[in-house]
Amino acid sequence: MKKLFIVANWKSNKTIKDTEKWLHDFDEELKRKQFSFESKVIIIAPPFTLLEHANYCSSNLKLPIKFAAQDVSPFEEGAYTGEISAKQIKELADYVIVGHSERRERFSEDEETINKKIALAQKYGLTTVLCVSELKQIHNSTLRLPSMQLRTGRSGQEFIIHNSNFIVAYEPLSAIGSGHPDTPVNADEMARSIKKELAEVPVLYGGSVTSGNVKNFTSMPYIDGVLVGGASLDPHEFLKIIKNA
Ligand code: PGA
Repeated sequence: MKKLFIVANWKSNKTIKDTEKWLHDFDEELKRKQFSFESKVIIIAPPFTLLEHANYCSSNLKLPIKFAAQDVSPFEEGAYTGEISAKQIKELADYVIVGHSERRERFSEDEETINKKIALAQKYGLTTVLCVSELKQIHNSTLRLPSMQLRTGRSGQEFIIHNSNFIVAYEPLSAIGSGHPDTPVNADEMARSIKKELAEVPVLYGGSVTSGNVKNFTSMPYIDGVLVGGASLDPHEFLKIIKNA
């Protein structure tokens, strides 16, 4: 049975109270259904402000979930007002999402910034979930595997990617938040192409995933899981996604 990653991206949603409720509802249903996650890795990416409390509640409830940050600073530490560094994230999460299309588009993130973020995430032992909407973003980001040597764009600085610490999420722009997912065949073809470039890196599909369509993606040979936005906001629907994956 292949290992599946099911990632919930809450984006800019939820308060502390909402988070407590989500985790408690998730826990109750999990217990009621005597659910087993088997070979599924469940990762929740709440906003930064919720990470600490979500961690606290999750360990009290002994939930079998990991946490991710939705972004990371391209700078190591110091005078960068408003930025959260990889070292700070590492205290609260094991994973970080980098290069989500909403950040590329709405916050003008370029490849150089994304590469700096990947380098720092790797340095501090955060598993990177790099989001791409097209193959050329893999080329642009000058990821060079299987040697797992990365060269950060213009600066030419090199850093090492650890195979086990790197995941790619293919998310076509038209599928994000639209209710119109990509076809599983197309998503699988992209996943295959990404793996060709980046050795055996796990590839997730993201974009309008629901409990009704998740299996169509996770049953494809090259897809190793899903990145879920809107449908992860409801713990019952998210559990169904995990169950059906
Ligand atoms: P969606 O978002 O599931 O709401 O389409 C996916 C994402 O942006 O990661």
